[in-house]
Amino acid sequence: MQLIDGKAVADQIKQEIAAEVAEIKKNGGKTPHLAVIIVGHDGGSETYVASKVKACEQCGFKSTRLSFESDITEEQLLDQIKMLNEDPDVDGFIVQLPLPKHISEQKVIEAIDYHKDVDGFHPINVGRTSIGLPAFVSATPAGIMELLKRYNIETSGKHCVVIGRSNIVGKPVASLMMQKAFPGDATVTVCHSRTKNLKEITLQADIIIAALGSPKFLTADMVKDGAVIIDVGTTRVPSTQTKSGFKLTGDVDFENVAPKCSFITPVPGGVGPMTICSLMKNTLLAGKKAIYK
Ligand code: GUN
Repeated sequence: MQLIDGKAVADQIKQEIAAEVAEIKKNGGKTPHLAVIIVGHDGGSETYVASKVKACEQCGFKSTRLSFESDITEEQLLDQIKMLNEDPDVDGFIVQLPLPKHISEQKVIEAIDYHKDVDGFHPINVGRTSIGLPAFVSATPAGIMELLKRYNIETSGKHCVVIGRSNIVGKPVASLMMQKAFPGDATVTVCHSRTKNLKEITLQADIIIAALGSPKFLTADMVKDGAVIIDVGTTRVPSTQTKSGFKLTGDVDFENVAPKCSFITPVPGGVGPMTICSLMKNTLLAGKKAIYK
């Protein structure tokens, strides 16, 4: 069994980005600038946003954090998005999800100028990704593809089972895995909460991408020997063993599944760091106008 070290890969990619940004600055180019909107005080969101701001520093980017209380109206938030759309210094921005119930996430996503949509959530970026055109690819799926690539994991003709059908992970990663490319070229099955005989399907999988958000859901009896396991779960489970009072827990019963696998991502330190790193990559691409002019 080989552990896929997402933290090490992410650190390496951030160094590569920082070197490129230093070169851009040396040549008088523009410093990439990421803005992040956060609404309310959700603990998970605050942690993620702090990590994104820190990653910007590591990459040599400029970052702006815009925080609003959870009683901000949808209209006020849409106005802020309009300002960022029109700000020529901001290359890319994201609105951290989830949002309070009175604000439509879909409306917010569609209000973001797709040229600046470094989260890759806008329907234009989702659509372009799915037909293999240059686009901002959603960060978690892009991070998973990068890990498969850097570990040189064979995907062509393999049976990849995705568990979870979210717009952010399940759907786009399934679409990337079926794309005629490396990584890609896989036979993809997407399973979800209504899937019957799930175990029968996962037992046929060469690669399993678990992205349903249910701690330790994938157990050893559901995995065939030698499978590649990608764990996207990041549920904050209460714990007395950590200072923060919670423990990040994946969708895979790591302890029992790991001995059966050829490759597996840990939680934390697997897909998570790659997600932030992909956001940095998208921001660099936005700064360079590499996807859209
Ligand atoms: N909430 C959980 N993951 C993400 C993400 O990748 N982007 C944004 N904007 N919100 C999230």
